[in-house]
Amino acid sequence: MALDLHDYVASIPDYPEKGVIFRDISPLMGDGAAYKQATNEIVNYARDKGVEMIVGPEARGFIVGCPVAYELGVGFAPARKKGKLPRPTIKATYDLEYGTSSLYLHKDAVKPGQRVLVTDDLLATGGTISATIDLVEELGGIVVGTAFIIELKDMHGRDKIKDYDMLSLMKY
Ligand code: PRP
Ligand code: HPA
Repeated sequence: MALDLHDYVASIPDYPEKGVIFRDISPLMGDGAAYKQATNEIVNYARDKGVEMIVGPEARGFIVGCPVAYELGVGFAPARKKGKLPRPTIKATYDLEYGTSSLYLHKDAVKPGQRVLVTDDLLATGGTISATIDLVEELGGIVVGTAFIIELKDMHGRDKIKDYDMLSLMKY
């Protein structure tokens, strides 16, 4: 019997600030059966798309992307924040509520023409995933899909990546 993954998301009112309900996937990750089910749903999606490589942004994109890559037998490349990657990188900048942030990817992380799945735990404004997509495309990768455990519908991140196929396991 399939689990209802909503039972494994903790909703924390007024975190990190008043008026926000924070959706926390750590109960899902902390339960072997729920983590496996979520991973398998993304694996099935990726298999249908002929994914050859996975790219996920620091830090929670790794939690989603790495087990999917392992199961598919494909590679995983981390998109990281400033100063974390030791070899030549490319950079993409995106907007935060106040100011901007940047993500970096090793220049040899994706080969031209490679079919790439981009993963993250949660889609909010879409800034993080758009920057990750930009990095993959700058290297010539083809983003064949994006996958999230949670989509926050009110934040309209889906509009920012409307040109890309997308899987979200749960919507809030
Ligand atoms: C969170 C989350 C996503 C991003 C979603 O990461 O894990 O990566 O925000 O928001 P967006 O769609 O508005 O860009 P955060 O930047 O908090 O970093 P972390 O994963 O290192 O905690
Ligand atoms: N949960 C986890 N990460 C987030 C959230 C949230 O509700 N909103 C923006 N990043």
